[in-house]
Order: sequence, then C-alpha cells, then structure tokens
Amino acid sequence: MDRIRIQGGRALNGTIPISGAKNATLPLMIASLLTDETLILDNVPRLADVALLQHILGNHGVDIMVSGKRAGDNEHTGQSMHLSASNIVDTTAPYHLVSKMRASFWVIGPLLARMGEAKVSMPGGCAIGTRPIDFHLDALKALGTEIDIEAGYVLAKAPRGLQGARINFPRVSVGATHTALMAASLANGESVIENAAREPEVSDVAECLQKMGAKIDGIGTSTLRIQGVKHLHAARHAVLPDRIETGTYAMAVAMTGGDVTLAGARAELLQDALDVLQKAGVTVQTTNEGVRIARNGAGLAPVEVTTAPFPGFPTDLQAQLMALMSRASGTSKITETIFENRFMHVSELARLGARISLDGDTALIEGVEKLKGAPVMATDLRASVSLVIAGLAAEGETMVHRVYHLDRGFERLEEKLAACGAAIERVAG
Ligand code: EPU
Repeated sequence: MDRIRIQGGRALNGTIPISGAKNATLPLMIASLLTDETLILDNVPRLADVALLQHILGNHGVDIMVSGKRAGDNEHTGQSMHLSASNIVDTTAPYHLVSKMRASFWVIGPLLARMGEAKVSMPGGCAIGTRPIDFHLDALKALGTEIDIEAGYVLAKAPRGLQGARINFPRVSVGATHTALMAASLANGESVIENAAREPEVSDVAECLQKMGAKIDGIGTSTLRIQGVKHLHAARHAVLPDRIETGTYAMAVAMTGGDVTLAGARAELLQDALDVLQKAGVTVQTTNEGVRIARNGAGLAPVEVTTAPFPGFPTDLQAQLMALMSRASGTSKITETIFENRFMHVSELARLGARISLDGDTALIEGVEKLKGAPVMATDLRASVSLVIAGLAAEGETMVHRVYHLDRGFERLEEKLAACGAAIERVAG
C-alpha cells in the first residue's frame, strides 16, 4: 500500500488547479442510466471513486468511453467521459461493488425509473457513521415503489411506472435528494421535493438533468418541483469545480503560510468556509483566475464553527479545519452536526501533537506552538487529508499511511502540493 511522506515546515506558493467535483461527478455518471442516449461529461476528475463507478455502471450495461488528450490539454485538464446506457442488461447492483462505495447505492433511482425494477445491495456502515438509507426508500415509496428488503438487498418494483408525489425530507440529505430528483424526472405527473439539499452538487446534477430534457423548477432552493417526462435524451455537461478540494488547499495554505491561487475555484461554492478563514486571519481574494489564499507572518486566530448543510460550513471540511486550528493562538470549538462519528482524525492529529478534547458532537482544539511529524493513518478520505495538512506544518517527517483513501477523492494531491513548494512524495508499496 502506498504511503505519503511529508517534510513539514515549507510555505506554499504558486498555483493549484482545482479539479471537477467528485460529489457531482458520481451522481452525474449515475444519471446516464436515465436515458438510452449518450451523456457526455466534461471536467471529470481522475479519481479512484470515478474508476470504481465506471466498473459498477459497466455491470448494468453502460458503455463508457473516455476521450484521449486533445490539442491544448495538459495534465490538469479534466477528462471527457461518454456514457451510453442504450441497453440496461442488469438491474442488480451487487454487494461486492456497492459496499466499496456508498454513492453507488444511488443507481436505485434511475434503474427503477427507467426499468421499473432494481435490486441494490444495502451499502452498510462506514467510518463516519451509520448512514442509513431510509429517506431514499421513503421517497421511492411515495413515488409508488414497492420495497422489500431481502438478504441485505433492497428489492424495488414499480411495475406500472413511478407516479409524481410530494416528498418532504425530515432532514437534509444530499443522496436522498439525488434519488428523489432522478426518479421524479421520469415519473408520471408532478413531484415536489421539500427540504431538498441545496448543495451545489445537487444543483449541478439538476442542471444536467434539465439539459437532458427534465422539467425542474427551484434549482438551488429547498423546494424542487419536477414535472415528469416520458424520456430523457442526450446532453453534454461540464462538472462544476470541487469546493471541498478548494477548501482543503485553502486550509493547507493557511496552515503553512504562503500565497497560492486556486485556479478555477469558485468562491460562492464555499463562501462560509472562506469567511471562517478570513476570521482566522487569512487573506482570501477572488481573482479572474479563481481564489487567492495568502497568509504571511500573521498568526491564526481561533474560530467557532458548526457544520451544517449548504450554505453552512461543510462537514467535508471539518477535519481539515480542525488540523488548521491545532496551530491557532487560542482555543477553537468545532461542532459536527451531520455525521455522528466523524472525529476519527482526532486521535491521529494528537499523534502529531495537537491538543483536542471531545465532548459528544463538539471538539475543543487548544492551539499549540508546534506540531511534530509522526506516522499516521486515517479511515476516511477527509480525515486523511487533514493529516496531510497537519504534516505540512509539522516539524520533521510525517508518513501518512493508507493513501488509497486520498486517491478516492483528491486528484494528484502530492503533485499539486509539491508544485507549490511542499516537500511531499508518494512512497510505493
Ligand atoms: N441520512 C439518514 N437517512 C438517509 C440518508 C441520510 O438518516 O436515508 C442522514 C445521514 O446519516 C447523515 C445526514 O442524513 O446524518 C446527511 O447525509 P447525506 O445523505 O446528506 O449524505 P450522503 O448523501 O450519503 C454526501 C456526500 C458526503 C457528504 C454528505 C453531506 C457524496 C458522494 N457524498 O453523502 O461526502 O459528507 O453528502 O454533505 O456526495 C465525502 O466526499 O467525503 C463525503 C462523505
């Protein structure tokens, strides 16, 4: 298993290109199941999760072609992916595939809408909490689906097609909003989704569905109105920039000091997180190229943050902020409200010298003068990258194990950081 070795203490200076968003790419790829015509996605990031989903969709019969290099492309240019689900040959998503990536459960909506049936393995727990699927199933039931659970599989059937319905989620769920939106796009009549997730990735998917012929009103708000159509058709859509990658590198620069432009980033996708960085004393500036992040000399002020659905502070940046605040001059407070067990990074950050105490869903982070390098490992994607951020500022060597977590969601992380002056390398084996 690959590891990442970091010699801490170097400032970051230069430009980091921001890739297409993982959490938009995955549902966009899944949306290809909704039509027998070709969906072309541009700006697709090269990630392990994308490769895994290609495999999963291939099992349903989706033909996938990734374009080669074009004139003017460089290694930072996202991929163009052509997905063609002209023949869905298998409506089962087996355990051995779904258990590797939770988001693959989301094939249930389009399979059902297009084929009238789906058999999808329940995804099971994961390192950041229990993550149930009840909202997905309730939404599908409201749309007229018969659901049975058998031997760890959800058996979903809508022999007479899906019927438009009113769906009101008890709390905001990104995944359940994707499921309801995709299913409702091909249902008979009107559906209204209330308390829908407003995350930019949900809006990106909704905009792509519109290009495919779906009739959706209220994109970007918490009430989505969908007028079902009989067929969706071919479309071409560019994936929006990754706000979590943007926020992660912004925190890395805030941590080490320096001056970096996050090229292609869009500040409005993570305004709340950028506001928090400004409160901490970091310079944040929107430029023609993207977002510029700088910290020169000044220390970091502590902050109080509570994670929340968009437009609040994203849970996917909570671990990175905690790493950053481990060096603030004072005590910070971070409350996690989205996932009940998303503090797995705390004990690993402590190995680097961070002083963090946990009380239920709240972490108190007492800033320290220095972190010191150590071997560390993490059990999920965002926790792993928080260790990289801490390692970039720690004295001496930090070795981050289980790099496959990082490869799931960060494209060429070590190359992007090294190009800005970090002493970071991948160690094979
Ligand atoms: N929930 C339920 N029942 C459901 C669905 C969700 O109780 O049927 C609960 C969850 O347990 C959680 C809350 O609702 O407490 C919100 O979960 P949500 O459904 O929004 O999460 P998700 O769709 O499974 C996506 C992202 C996550 C991100 C969350 C929250 C993708 C592929 N995943 O997950 O991203 O943390 O939304 O914004 O889009 C990551 O990229 O590292 C990651 C974990």
